[in-house]
Amino acid sequence: MAGYSKETARLWMAMDIGPLWIGRDEDDPLSPQSIAKDSTAKEITTAPKSVAEQNSTHSDAFKPASTLNKTPPHEHSVLTSPESHKPKTFELKPIRRSFAEPGIVEVDSELLTRAQNADWKTLQTLVSQCTACKALSQSRLSTVFGTAEKTAKMVIVGEAPGRDEDLQGKPFVGKSGELLENILRSLGLRRGADVAIINVLKCRPPNNRDPHDNEIAACATFLTRQLELLDPKVIVLSGRIASHALLKTEMSTGRLRGQTHHIEVNGKPIPTVVTYHPSYLLRSPTEKICAWRDFNLAKKLLLELS
Ligand code: URA
Repeated sequence: MAGYSKETARLWMAMDIGPLWIGRDEDDPLSPQSIAKDSTAKEITTAPKSVAEQNSTHSDAFKPASTLNKTPPHEHSVLTSPESHKPKTFELKPIRRSFAEPGIVEVDSELLTRAQNADWKTLQTLVSQCTACKALSQSRLSTVFGTAEKTAKMVIVGEAPGRDEDLQGKPFVGKSGELLENILRSLGLRRGADVAIINVLKCRPPNNRDPHDNEIAACATFLTRQLELLDPKVIVLSGRIASHALLKTEMSTGRLRGQTHHIEVNGKPIPTVVTYHPSYLLRSPTEKICAWRDFNLAKKLLLELS
């Protein structure tokens, strides 16, 4: 293809995508809408669900953590309507499983109350002092607060730190971070200055296991406050854990991606795009075209709103 630079070609190679990236202005043939039109199309598959995922409801996430262990509400309104922007209501099922590690989370209500009104720096300190999730706070080497500059208008929400992030105290610095950074650079977006990167959990789950619902709920106050302070124009939810936690749904990433959802931040509905997690893309490189389209959608929304 004529007209692309060596740098672009290098990024494409790094992302293992080559000419698959062309045709970005076309309708996404893999979006749920296009698939729905094609009655013969097969359902998009995502990574196999773990037992924990199949049983997970995430119904405790994003309640103030001080209300943990109380009966969850059976309904929760979330702004996540692709076409109409009308709030959609999801029925929340009661939690069926007991927390996998009972008693592991003991929230410090006073710390969380302070977090609700903290500035960025104070919030970072409060996160570093948090020991609510016993297993995580005992095994972590560092808390991973996030990368953000005041100029960032887009926020990417990932899952939780992995080994490299735990070692360095920064989000997305391992292999999946490399891929994420390549995607951003190929879109002309700078990590930090244009795009803030934060995670649902600030501590690494031992052996990179999925975060438990009560851990997500315990960390929700921090994430909510981060979003309030960042006041983004566009949010990208990277993978199942982030989209389930923030959209309050159990739909697969394949079904949620390719459309615009909305999450309420500071009383405003913020356009939100769901995409595959980079670590899933590393295992399933053919899905990178979907991520490319999702990030293009996010960038288009950003340009429209800037
Ligand atoms: N995966 C994530 O979701 N977040 C990180 O920071 C690193 C890997």
